Amino acid sequence: MLDHTTSTLLAYSFTATLISLSNATPNDKYDFIIIGGGTAGLTIANRLTELPHITVAVIEAGDKVLNNPNVTGTDKFTAALGTSIDWQYESTNQTYAAGQTVSCPAGKALGGTSTINGMTWIRGEKAQIDSWGTIGNEGWSWDELFPYYKKSENFIVPSPAQVAAGASYNAIDHGESGPLKVGYHPELQNGSLHGSVGTAWQSLGIPSTIDANGGDVRGFTVEQQTLDPDANVREDAARAFYYPFQNRANLHIHLNTTAMKVVWTSNDVDAIADGVEIISLNGSVSTINARREVILSAGSLRSPAVLELSGVGNPSILDKLGISSKIVLPGVGENLIDQPNNAIIYNSSTTFNGTTGYLAYATATDFRMNQPSDDDIPTWAEQVAAANNHAVNASSLEYLFKVQSGLLKSVANAEVFLSTGKGIGLPPSGFLATAFWLLMPFSRGSVHISSSNPLTYPIINPNYFLVDYDLKVQAAITKWVREFWMTAPMSSLASEISPGYTTLPANATETQYTKWVKTSFSSNSHSLGTAAMMPRKLGGVVDNALKVYGTANLRVVDASIIPFQISGHLTATIYAIAEKAADLIKADIK
Ligand SMILES: Cc1cc2nc3c(=O)[nH]c(=O)nc-3n(C[C@H](O)[C@H](O)[C@H](O)COP(=O)(O)OP(=O)(O)OC[C@H]3O[C@@H](n4cnc5c(N)ncnc54)[C@H](O)[C@@H]3O)c2cc1C
Ligand SMILES: *[C@@H]1O[C@H](CO)[C@@H](O)[C@H](O)[C@H]1NC(C)=O
Ligand SMILES: *[C@@H]1O[C@H](CO)[C@@H](O)[C@H](O)[C@H]1NC(C)=O
Ligand SMILES: *[C@@H]1O[C@H](CO)[C@@H](O)[C@H](O)[C@H]1NC(C)=O
Ligand SMILES: *[C@@H]1O[C@H](CO)[C@@H](O)[C@H](O)[C@H]1NC(C)=O
Ligand SMILES: *[C@@H]1O[C@H](CO)[C@@H](O)[C@H](O)[C@H]1NC(C)=O
Ligand SMILES: *[C@@H]1O[C@H](CO)[C@@H](O)[C@H](O)[C@H]1NC(C)=O
Ligand SMILES: *[C@@H]1O[C@H](CO)[C@@H](O)[C@H](O)[C@H]1NC(C)=O
Ligand SMILES: *[C@@H]1O[C@H](CO)[C@@H](O)[C@H](O)[C@H]1NC(C)=O
Ligand SMILES: *[C@@H]1O[C@H](CO)[C@@H](O)[C@H](O)[C@H]1NC(C)=O
Repeated sequence: MLDHTTSTLLAYSFTATLISLSNATPNDKYDFIIIGGGTAGLTIANRLTELPHITVAVIEAGDKVLNNPNVTGTDKFTAALGTSIDWQYESTNQTYAAGQTVSCPAGKALGGTSTINGMTWIRGEKAQIDSWGTIGNEGWSWDELFPYYKKSENFIVPSPAQVAAGASYNAIDHGESGPLKVGYHPELQNGSLHGSVGTAWQSLGIPSTIDANGGDVRGFTVEQQTLDPDANVREDAARAFYYPFQNRANLHIHLNTTAMKVVWTSNDVDAIADGVEIISLNGSVSTINARREVILSAGSLRSPAVLELSGVGNPSILDKLGISSKIVLPGVGENLIDQPNNAIIYNSSTTFNGTTGYLAYATATDFRMNQPSDDDIPTWAEQVAAANNHAVNASSLEYLFKVQSGLLKSVANAEVFLSTGKGIGLPPSGFLATAFWLLMPFSRGSVHISSSNPLTYPIINPNYFLVDYDLKVQAAITKWVREFWMTAPMSSLASEISPGYTTLPANATETQYTKWVKTSFSSNSHSLGTAAMMPRKLGGVVDNALKVYGTANLRVVDASIIPFQISGHLTATIYAIAEKAADLIKADIK
């Protein structure tokens, strides 16, 4: 942390003293500028440049990683973490989680976080996407997003050997002509766990699902993943949406280039984005101009920082840094929702083959957790509002929490991910692991800048377990996962080595369980909500066309705009949002 801050400060003072701001040349003008060549950014860049008369520039802080083995290897999940293609963000000390900091990885490369993620492809629950419309985002529902889920996808049907090892799907739920390859892990066919895992879940009341991607995720399933099973290569946003199209003359990628802020022309009724100030690795600063729009796709941990650096946000944060508020929008950077992830590791004398994940999604009823009580909601809303200095006030939060609480009556609130050790970076033989997380926390945190230097990392505070109910849910899931491993046939296959029954006894109290949870979790890396698509009066940042309130031509398109957590993994939904956004943007092109 310290090293990083020091070096960026040095880089910045070098910039500030030695390099003068160059004005844009005519060549540096594009119809659209996309900040961030990641999961969402490259999807939009691809769809907009289908129009040959439209020029698009993508500003990406990272480099190409096409042949990086940590990116291509289907068994290399976690290898890239901590390397130069990971931003390696770190949270603040977590007040409600024993004061520790938590690593927050994010991809810094063409392709963004899709180049380093776990490849799991699960969209979420129908009711969750419908709730986006419920809170005031007209045009957003499962049925309206479903065609876009399919549009991005090139689903590769499982081989007979994979079907024999547990793969199943409903063809109507998948796209076959999109750019992004989705399939089953090549090693699934050599796996030997599907039957045993399914049997144990069945005993605990969790049925097998034919396909979790049809809007109803509850159940047990083998994961579908973003990969090419035939080539045995991971899939990512660049491999799908950029490299096959890189010769398009109207698509310009600026690598190793960091966007500092949006620059504005003089105000109309709404602020008009004129372009983007950028900085190269050598410290030279310049501005490139946008004829039509600027699209911010820097990810949920960085897009709010770019907004704040551009004068869009909460004046009480910006004033202190000497940034004048162009647009007062206190929701910028608030509503950060991530999930806490705990893992239990098992040892076995058997070598289990395969690296695929076996997923179980369960409702609160399944894992015997109480529904949130309506009586508690005003208190939780007050707690979250107090933590964010009322940037989003308690009455807004109370409304949002009621919607969320309603969802929890039917949607899955626990995910249990089981794999061989190899799938999560442990030695290939003899280990099994479950990682598990509550899916819809009430706790909300924030991402804000603490410096006017655009290279300084923002302050990331997910506020895990701020709302006590989240901790109780995660503890209930932990107990239930142990019950699963004590259920035949799992009980005879492996024994728990971490935390182990010495550290966390079978008869451990609730307090012992919650203590273990909050001292041993990590980030589930599903951060979202920091530029939420919600009505402005609820604390929203973008409208239902993903346009930033108070601007004529600045949109945010990435995980930041998702208002609630989803019972899935994020990329499937982010690709779909980006596909829909591209159509919204195209509809505005005269
Ligand atoms: C370790 C890990 C495992 C995960 N596992 C899964 C999984 O199995 N399945 C799943 O679906 N999801 C998973 N996720 C989550 C998912 O990958 C991300 O939510 C998603 O990729 C984010 O997409 P995005 O478009 O919002 O942002 P990103 O894909 O992160 O794109 C943002 C881009 O902007 C660039 N950028 C940032 N700031 C600037 C700037 N100022 N100037 C220029 N460029 C900038 C970044 O370098 C990056 O390329 C995982 C995430 C992590 C970290
Ligand atoms: C791949 O990851 C490993 C660490 O897991 C690292 O040592 C190596 O340098 C990385 N390779 C590349 C090309 O980044
Ligand atoms: C913050 O967390 C880090 C790492 O978890 C720890 O070393 C440090 O002591 C903590 N600082 C405070 C002030 O609690
Ligand atoms: C995996 O299964 C396939 C199909 O049954 C088979 O051809 C291959 O040899 C197996 N690989 C290993 C390492 O057992
Ligand atoms: C990006 O920067 C790295 C590190 O300096 C360098 O190795 C690489 O060649 C650069 N890539 C491009 C496209 O300039
Ligand atoms: C800095 O790098 C940019 C991008 O590679 C290049 O266009 C510019 O000429 C360089 N400036 C200096 C001063 O080296
Ligand atoms: C793992 O299990 C094997 C056999 O069941 C046993 O010999 C070994 O001691 C165990 N290792 C650990 C670390 O528990
Ligand atoms: C794992 O694969 C190897 C090689 O194909 C095989 O010998 C072994 O029996 C498999 N293990 C299990 C548990 O199926
Ligand atoms: C748990 O069991 C152990 C031994 O069986 C016993 O010593 C301990 O008091 C029990 N703890 C609780 C909280 O019941
Ligand atoms: C909460 O914020 C909304 C929108 O800004 C506002 O309409 C409402 O009056 C506020 N409520 C309270 C109690 O401050």
